[in-house]
Amino acid sequence: MSRIAYVNGQYVRHAEAAVHIEDRGYQFADGVYEVCEVWQNKIVDMPRHLDRLDRSLNELRIDWPMTRSAVEFVLREVIRRNRVRDGLVYVQVTRGVSRRDHFFPPEDVAPSIVVTARSTSPKAAEAQAGKGIAVVSYPENRWPRVDIKTIALLPNVLAKQNAKEQGGKEAWYLDGDGNVTEGGSTNAWIVTKDGVLVTRPAESGILRGITRAAVLDLVQKEGLTFEERPFSLEEAFDAKEAFVTAASTLVMPVTRVDGKTIGNGHPGSVATRLRELFHTATDLRAV
Ligand code: PDD
Repeated sequence: MSRIAYVNGQYVRHAEAAVHIEDRGYQFADGVYEVCEVWQNKIVDMPRHLDRLDRSLNELRIDWPMTRSAVEFVLREVIRRNRVRDGLVYVQVTRGVSRRDHFFPPEDVAPSIVVTARSTSPKAAEAQAGKGIAVVSYPENRWPRVDIKTIALLPNVLAKQNAKEQGGKEAWYLDGDGNVTEGGSTNAWIVTKDGVLVTRPAESGILRGITRAAVLDLVQKEGLTFEERPFSLEEAFDAKEAFVTAASTLVMPVTRVDGKTIGNGHPGSVATRLRELFHTATDLRAV
């Protein structure tokens, strides 16, 4: 079966899917995106993801390429056409195709939309979660508007590649005060020795993760103690547990930070439980 992508109104073979060379996403990274998890034939937290897409579009003054319900339809259709039961669906909207010029294009230029979906292996993800991952810190070098989910991810690419070259799976950005902001494509959490969950407030310095929001709901439901405040790398070294969250990783235990063992070096019980319960705290829409 060949993979199918949606590009500006058409379902096309993935291998041949293309946008114009003067798409502003290609030339200026002038666009935004969302990634939703597909779990057991259901789209996880689609309303929250589309709310955030709406916010990102508004912040950059890009119009919706079609109605929100049409986008929902296309997400479902691309998932169906690719027979994804468990995986990820990706939607990207850019300011459209226009002669290269930094100023916004003329009003009649329509935004571009691309939707792709791919299967992932739940078994491989569980195996990874059973081992945990290593993270490697990296100086924060992104623009201050990381609250907008833009496709301009070059700093993230470099930070994550640096982590990979040092045996890690994720980077943790460190701000000027030595506090962890977030991961290259995840939000960052620790569990202190006293059992308090700590994650940075989403008011500035991080993307307000949808998985983070669902985990916060779960934490409250479970009656766990949590604090939204910055934490330093030293505090992470000293923590009982650490983990990251994203639609692509769900709750993923962190067992090493900059080569130092966290807790007993194995995935922590809090992170493991939150991972198990995760989907009970999410909105699930049938594909
Ligand atoms: N990344 N922080 C950053 C910088 C991210 O790129 C992401 C998501 C998150 C977590 O957000 P959410 O829980 O809504 O997925 C935090 C996606 C998955 C990606 O770029 O592939």
